[in-house]
Amino acid sequence: MKKKILVTGGAGYIGSHTTLALLEAGYNVVVLDNLCNSSVKSLQRISTLCKIAPEFIQGDIRDRTLLDRIFTSHDISAVLHFAGLKSVGESVTTPLNYYENNVSGSINLLQAMKQAGVFDLVFSSSATVYGESKVMPIREDFPTGQPTNPYGRSKLIIEQILQDMAKSEPQWCIALLRYFNPIGAHPSGMIGEDPNGLPNNLMPYISQIAIGKLKKLSVFGRDYPTPDGTGVRDYIHVQDVAEGHLCALNAIRERNGVNIWNLGTGVGYSVLEIIKAFELASGRTVPFQVIQRRSGDIAECWAAPEKAAKELGWTAKRSLPEMMSDTWRWQQKSPNGYRD
Ligand code: NAD
Ligand code: UD1
Repeated sequence: MKKKILVTGGAGYIGSHTTLALLEAGYNVVVLDNLCNSSVKSLQRISTLCKIAPEFIQGDIRDRTLLDRIFTSHDISAVLHFAGLKSVGESVTTPLNYYENNVSGSINLLQAMKQAGVFDLVFSSSATVYGESKVMPIREDFPTGQPTNPYGRSKLIIEQILQDMAKSEPQWCIALLRYFNPIGAHPSGMIGEDPNGLPNNLMPYISQIAIGKLKKLSVFGRDYPTPDGTGVRDYIHVQDVAEGHLCALNAIRERNGVNIWNLGTGVGYSVLEIIKAFELASGRTVPFQVIQRRSGDIAECWAAPEKAAKELGWTAKRSLPEMMSDTWRWQQKSPNGYRD
């Protein structure tokens, strides 16, 4: 029987796209998700799309008994670990919740993996661990910086735990994937990003304006040292991010220890460029006003993608117009996300 991949957080935004890519590539997938920020509908839609249902276990990565049961009853060969809380603002108001979910949850998962003899792990990290880099593009060998919030610190702490663990236990094969700014949706428009309440991030905010749910975008600052004064980021299609996981999963089999790869395109776009690109793709106007900078924001951030290209044979393929039109298709097909 084929070995299985455990995907924690597999019902969420990036996890659902990756689960679909895994199933399409012929993997058997077990999803563990407590649905605190997602819906089982994403998994149902995956089944419709690829005619295979991932096995779903509703539960929490902090539940050690459950994890032990999963590892005993399934022949798991590797874990893709997406589960965690990700709202920067919320992490400032409830830091303990973030450290408990993200850090304690990850430690619990690692202990269960070790006991089960499963040592292949792909971890969802973030470009936020670089802090405010003065040099662009950002390479993996740049020192990590000072994340400005508990969410970012939780990612950095988990990275450091994984480094320490791999040093003392050489059987681990770990990928730290540092995502830049994942946006977009599956081209079918069936699965996509479904933020709870008011979106914090740029792309879902813009698409909710275009669909008429929100009125006006606040552009956080136009006085950055960037070409048009607004923040510049490396937006990457979620389908490219998903494919990056499959490549990392293959690559770690031959590489012990901790391997760090940026998942970015290598190109930065400003907030104003994103607004324009979305208007072009959707045919809708996105009204905006410039307000003061958001605390904790940096001027610019984009990836050096060469290491991933060389070592994983992976590059981001999808263009900015594709990211915009796929976001818009998802938003139109599911104006209320998975709540319909
Ligand atoms: P998401 O919130 O859509 O997905 C996370 C999933 O984990 C959700 O389905 C949620 O229900 C689940 N979950 C949370 N805590 C859990 C727990 N204790 N036990 C079991 N399930 C739990 O987020 P996403 O955008 O898909 O992000 C996936 C991962 O990638 C996260 O770890 C996030 O921090 C990281 N990341 C995301 C971005 C981004 O821009 N979306 C950027 C960098 C890193
Ligand atoms: C944010 C988080 C980062 C997290 C990432 C993915 C902060 C400080 N950083 O990154 O830790 O990993 O999301 O979840 O929150 N913008 C506006 N108006 C808006 C929203 C955003 O102008 O309403 C601007 C921002 O100033 C930034 C750009 O758009 O220049 C992208 O913002 P966002 O989508 O929130 O991503 P990041 O800030 O890069």
